[in-house]
Amino acid sequence: MLQAQELLQERYQLQYQLGNNGIRQTWLAKDLQATDDRNSLVVVKLLAFGGAVQWDDLKLFEREAQILKQLNHQFIPKYIDYFCIDDSHLWFGLVQEYIPGISLKEKLNQQGKFTEQNAKDIAIQVLKILTYLHNLKPSVLHRDIKPSNLIWGENHQIYLVDFGAVQDKAAKEGVTFTVVGTYGYAPMEQFGGRSVPASDLYALGATLIHLLTGICPADLPQKDLNIQFTDHINLSLAFENWLKKITDPSPENRFSDATQALNAIKSGETYFENREIKHLDIKDVINNSGCGMFNKYARVPDDILGWNWGAFLMPCLWLWTNKVWVGLVCFVPIFGFIMAMILGFKGNEWAWKSRRWRSIEQFKNHQRGWAISGLMIGAPISIIFWLFSLSYLLDFIF
Ligand SMILES: Nc1ncnc2c1ncn2[C@@H]1O[C@H](COP(=O)(O)OP(=O)(O)O)[C@@H](O)[C@H]1O
Ligand SMILES: [Mg+2]
Repeated sequence: MLQAQELLQERYQLQYQLGNNGIRQTWLAKDLQATDDRNSLVVVKLLAFGGAVQWDDLKLFEREAQILKQLNHQFIPKYIDYFCIDDSHLWFGLVQEYIPGISLKEKLNQQGKFTEQNAKDIAIQVLKILTYLHNLKPSVLHRDIKPSNLIWGENHQIYLVDFGAVQDKAAKEGVTFTVVGTYGYAPMEQFGGRSVPASDLYALGATLIHLLTGICPADLPQKDLNIQFTDHINLSLAFENWLKKITDPSPENRFSDATQALNAIKSGETYFENREIKHLDIKDVINNSGCGMFNKYARVPDDILGWNWGAFLMPCLWLWTNKVWVGLVCFVPIFGFIMAMILGFKGNEWAWKSRRWRSIEQFKNHQRGWAISGLMIGAPISIIFWLFSLSYLLDFIF
């Protein structure tokens, strides 16, 4: 039994336990040989060989140390040491850099559900780490991405820890394999011993669903192996579709790699393909507002379409509240009038797609307000402006 203050290798003084999964213990320790205070805290992972702990566990533990040694990334803890103690038990120890912060699992318990923006920021940061891992030769698959293996650093950056399930070679057909990963986060193919880079993408998606809903994905209902999360959260359509795609049960339907998933989340594009949209009933897309202004796949509800007087008569003011920034062109002389016409024609569709509206009703009330103000204020000002310009032009000609 290990205890706080115990000294290992005459160097690592155990402080307190960070985790204990039955066969592995993870401790925060003080490195007495550290050169300065900043790197004096380390994490020591220990595996006691024998009993329930078998060769497979030791193989994974050694692989964890080996891989960690080879990795060099800002947001992955650095490898420090690996040792073996032979007293009454045979102990193996892996020492790594300590990341000050808390795991996303702890953060979820403390603060409750994450917002869409938080979840997207986390997704982007993890995808950048995965891009690094998957692009290594041979590529490194983490295979156990979940909230407890992601650390929210004190510097507000996300770190990936726990390479205890890692795979660094393509699995061979017909060779026995050790099942790794955590139920609820790991995709089906992983339980069949076939992990691919897209398996890490699935686990990231399941992790994000947990952070957003506060419910462990294993406890959410499933339909044809798809996690049903949309009843529990109100997300922008683009992000909802991105999450559905990244957690598709079949790896071929997910993004092909972390870079593609990263580009898609950054651009906010909705990944509905044409063939899928044909089967969508209008009731299914009734509130797809905020799906992205130039999203060509999302159908706008019929109620939304039509001429927009507010956008036409007051294009300079209207575009701010509707977040239709392309309308800034209306400030450019000569093009201004053309842009006002385009906004009159396309304004409703763009305003619907560019920001999230609570309902069609809210959208219509908002636009009605602009139309009335446009007719009361915008039109008289425009008429005065045009009369003024006309008289100036006539004066100039004659
Ligand atoms: N390098 C690290 N810096 C800070 N905390 C860590 C670090 N490594 C692990 N932890 C914390 O310890 C917990 C257990 O460590 P982990 O490596 O995930 O062990 P296990 O393989 O038993 O899951 C993690 O959930 C995390 O909270
Ligand atoms: Mg872990």
